[in-house]
Amino acid sequence: MQIRIYKNYEALSEATANTMLQTIQLKPNAVICLASGHTPLLPCKLFVQKRKEQNVDISQTTFLGLDEWVGVPPENEGSCHFFLNNTVFNPLGLNKNQFHVFDSISKNLEHECEKMDAAISSKAGIDLMIVGIGLNGHIGFNEPGVSFKNYSHVIKLDEITVTVGQKYFSSQTKVLKGITIGLQHLMEAKKVILIANGEKKAAIIKKTIEEKVTEKIPSTIMQIHKNGLIMLDADAASLLPQNYLHETE
Ligand code: GLP
Repeated sequence: MQIRIYKNYEALSEATANTMLQTIQLKPNAVICLASGHTPLLPCKLFVQKRKEQNVDISQTTFLGLDEWVGVPPENEGSCHFFLNNTVFNPLGLNKNQFHVFDSISKNLEHECEKMDAAISSKAGIDLMIVGIGLNGHIGFNEPGVSFKNYSHVIKLDEITVTVGQKYFSSQTKVLKGITIGLQHLMEAKKVILIANGEKKAAIIKKTIEEKVTEKIPSTIMQIHKNGLIMLDADAASLLPQNYLHETE
């Protein structure tokens, strides 16, 4: 696991966007899995902007949505699908067959999981995952206690996730379950970048890097990924020992 620390959110976002572009330039038919939430907002915007400026061909690229709130439709501005549509899929002008997301209002969520797993297998795996981190160490909706061996699954949301999750919705929204790509997919992905910014993430980032690998803190899985990278702004890195800080870019 590598750690890179950037002076601020803008620099972190720029580096993330550049990595996404480089991945596609090296492999035009790359499969890229994206988290939603506040952290990936600027990285995704910069990616779309730079893609246009540099005229990078994305006609063969596939995008996957990492997770979704169960029961929240894509028209709801708090849904992950809404975020990805607005920030990435629509601005890029993707064809329908170029992205896969969970339909979390489906009556058959198990089938949704099977469809996602099949989409990933048919593309021979994920090339790049850009994930965020919850205050409880979740990645996607892989909540504390989840098995590292899970592929896509439906999960009861942790209390912290239910409470913090309200920040995405304009009015109180009942969310009890999530549907998510699993950590076995993450382990099999060719490259995983966990991004975090802001002081509020500093404590969980310290645990992610320093605690023993445990399913109680799903993000500790980053320590055992063969090509895992944690990219932080200075605030999210503020509780790490000084020896990490020389890496600041
Ligand atoms: C959310 C999402 C995750 C996201 C994380 C952090 O609940 N399910 O995919 O990465 O929590 O979100 P944010 O970037 O808004 O802090």
